Amino acid sequence: MTTLTILTLPDKRLKTVAKPVETFDDTLKQLADDMLATMYAAPGIGLAATQVDQHIQLVVIDVSEDNTEPLVMVNPEIVEKDGIQKHEEGCLSVPGIYASVKRAEHIKVKFQDLSGEAQELEAEGLLAVCIQHELDHLKGIVFLDHLSALKKKLALKKLEKVTA
Ligand code: NI
Repeated sequence: MTTLTILTLPDKRLKTVAKPVETFDDTLKQLADDMLATMYAAPGIGLAATQVDQHIQLVVIDVSEDNTEPLVMVNPEIVEKDGIQKHEEGCLSVPGIYASVKRAEHIKVKFQDLSGEAQELEAEGLLAVCIQHELDHLKGIVFLDHLSALKKKLALKKLEKVTA
């Protein structure tokens, strides 16, 4: 397994919209493995392919405390959402910055696994937050984009200091 380089703001490649995965081959499995290794090493609880400069619809997530529940989602799509929760979010592409973001409390997501099999998952709480955060990355959106213009500006200023 290889640890991949994670893009950080203000890298414009993070704004790329990911393309659907059409080929479920060993290259895809290898990328998912490498992304999990990269996420665990960081450490983080989620990573989108966008963040490692691979612009395909692939995310990996593990919100367990002992890294035992890896979740790989290919071509994920939220098909139902309800309720509201606010959670303090961070992001491996925005190191050192945390901000409270409003998300749906409960979601249903359809996706494919690494074999291309259709899957469906219902999630709430932290897992729901994480899925919504990672799926945003595939659309070129980072969590700071959910903040007011002023809060976003302050966060970016702080980021400049952190990464200087
Ligand atoms: Ni992120």
